Amino acid sequence: MAVTAPRTTNVPTLPAHPDPDTDRVLDSGLLHELSYAFGGPFHFLLPHRFDANLAAFRTALGDAGVEGLVYYAKKANKAAIWMERCAVHQAGVDVAGVGELREALGHGVRGENIVVTGPAKSDELLRLALLQGCLVAVDALDELDMLITLALTGAVRQARLLLRRLPPTQPHSRFGMNTGELETALDRCVRAGDAVRMEGFSFHLSGYATQPRTDLAAELVEWCLKARVVGLQADRISIGGGFAVDYSPADQWYTFLAKQHPEHYHAHKTFHSGDFYPYHSPVAGADALRTILASVPEGGQTSLAERLQETGTLLLMEPGRALLAGAGSTVFSIQGLKERDGYRIATVDGTSLSLSEQWFNSEYLPDPELVTPTGRSRGTGIHPTCVGGASCLESDMVTWRKIPLPARPRVGDLLVYPNTAGYQMDSNESPFHDLPLPPKVVLDRLDDRPRWRLDRRTAY
Ligand SMILES: Cc1ncc(COP(=O)(O)O)c(C=O)c1O
Repeated sequence: MAVTAPRTTNVPTLPAHPDPDTDRVLDSGLLHELSYAFGGPFHFLLPHRFDANLAAFRTALGDAGVEGLVYYAKKANKAAIWMERCAVHQAGVDVAGVGELREALGHGVRGENIVVTGPAKSDELLRLALLQGCLVAVDALDELDMLITLALTGAVRQARLLLRRLPPTQPHSRFGMNTGELETALDRCVRAGDAVRMEGFSFHLSGYATQPRTDLAAELVEWCLKARVVGLQADRISIGGGFAVDYSPADQWYTFLAKQHPEHYHAHKTFHSGDFYPYHSPVAGADALRTILASVPEGGQTSLAERLQETGTLLLMEPGRALLAGAGSTVFSIQGLKERDGYRIATVDGTSLSLSEQWFNSEYLPDPELVTPTGRSRGTGIHPTCVGGASCLESDMVTWRKIPLPARPRVGDLLVYPNTAGYQMDSNESPFHDLPLPPKVVLDRLDDRPRWRLDRRTAY
């Protein structure tokens, strides 16, 4: 059945921003070789992008005249390469469990450059953090008590800690401490004496808006001043993560949102526009940090940057997704094709668990590239194709949307999803059906012929 139509058709499309580095990889022929070698899906990683994103965050701090530290939020991608880059650049890492802490230490990150976040930390995690001199973002009073007890009774007698604030604008968050709890925590820190080094306060906000981050950061500065009065160090605040990533151009994104309709999806699946990640963001990554610093907090007179300077307060942050912007893609091979009424179903050699967005009842929207053995397909047609996973579940759709591919897909062609390093690749991966977890390939060099190696992650 012919499913070709002129490219002016109404099938919504969402191209990612152009990315010459990724295009060079797609056109190099390497991906077909690797697909053959691995016999299944895989991800490729671009460490130079991580380096550039980290440098951009640091430059934003420097330009604002603010002293600070960037901690990579490790949960966003499990690969070892990011730890190795953090170690080389003396950047910090944000870990939320023993496994993540072990990986960070094992790949060369010094304990003093690690912040331990996450709720209700186990005593094993707290003990390790103490021994390694990590900073602990304390989430609750009972956790504070446990940390103080460990410090008083263990080999290392001083715990470095931040107190995590329950955001007043997100009162239903299960993380952090409210005003009363923070007052109690301050009191307990004072009583603990040398057993604790209370370095300041932290928060992490849901969403990507910058002004609430400016406002809450300014509030934490006030908490620091209060804590200093009672003799605590309190010279830093962490504003967590949540720096947006800009995947697609504004016009394409807003057109997509206006157009998208259940008939554009396999089985008339309904997605609500509000459930999608905001794939276009006018202010993203390090620019979001610039905006946060340049903005005046609610009720304030000066910018947050000035407030930090005049109070001698360091700014810590824990970006995950934003440090991985443009730093990797996910490659599936088409294993089979089926015609449906006016579209095709391509079944690929992996599952939707290697492109995590379905887990959030949402869909990863930036269009995948159709790659043939000679490079990107540059056809001018419209071949609406949804993408199914290689499992027995109806719900295992990598993409429910009928993507308007530019050429007729064939078995053995690759579908390469762009910009997947932040959370998409591995946060929900699973060896369901005894399928192997997709390996990660590090592309160390991109010249004429990209050089690749396997990522050095030690444990899966
Ligand atoms: C405490 C904390 N810090 C940092 C992050 C990273 O957020 P993002 O990847 O959006 O920057 C998270 C994400 O959940 C978090 O919970």
